[in-house]
Amino acid sequence: MKKSTNGIYYKDTGSGVPVFLVHAFPLNRRMWDEQVAALGRRYRVVAPDLRGFGESDPVSGVYAVDRMASDLQGLMAALSIEAAVLVGLSMGGYAALAFLRLYPECVLSLVLANTRATADSPEAREKRLKSAARAEAEGVEGVVSDMLPLLVGNQTATARPDLVNRVRELALSTQPATIAAAQRGMAGRPDSTSLLASIQKPVLVVAGTDDLITSANEMTAMQGQIPGSTLRIIEGSGHLSNLERPIEFNEAILDFLRSR
Ligand code: MLT
Repeated sequence: MKKSTNGIYYKDTGSGVPVFLVHAFPLNRRMWDEQVAALGRRYRVVAPDLRGFGESDPVSGVYAVDRMASDLQGLMAALSIEAAVLVGLSMGGYAALAFLRLYPECVLSLVLANTRATADSPEAREKRLKSAARAEAEGVEGVVSDMLPLLVGNQTATARPDLVNRVRELALSTQPATIAAAQRGMAGRPDSTSLLASIQKPVLVVAGTDDLITSANEMTAMQGQIPGSTLRIIEGSGHLSNLERPIEFNEAILDFLRSR
């Protein structure tokens, strides 16, 4: 694992077609451990910590999705990678869509997991700004406790308390300033809906039947707007489909990558 010249930490494993794994909020690259192991046998897998997360340099103020995208592009350039497969889950999906808008020539194909193309509603934006202020005033515990039941699906939470703990630990390791900056950045993200119909890259959309943040219905509607895309709905999975159902998730990604 190394730190790129732009202050972004990353794990770089395997060789072949580069696959970038872009993590969810408020987690870090460690959420991809199972995917790094499974995909790294056939591909070059790069799992970065977005700015402020994991071991990357701190961030403060507003961490806009366009800056997330430019951080990813800076890392690609530092690694002399011209174009990569982008796999983004939730906030990682927002960053992946921003990346596609800004650097389409650097995208080979796209996996959008448990995410959405729409901007926040005014209510959602307000909630985020409150959560940002709360993290700065009180620390991360309260924000993480409120989010946890939404992040991990009910079936998984009942069957896998160890996984809930793992997600909690990852989330609690995130600095309040990072939580606040990312919340403000996500609150201000643009609506990417109009981008969907113009996507000319292969796209896989992954959803979970139990996802309380980005429902399978919403994901299905989004996939319907992307020409030629494929949809995998993972039975019994909540929002963190890669962690909750790693076997099915990895199989979906590997099938998609093989078919390209
Ligand atoms: C995530 O999992 O990255 C978050 O749920 C994204 C969000 O808050 O919209």
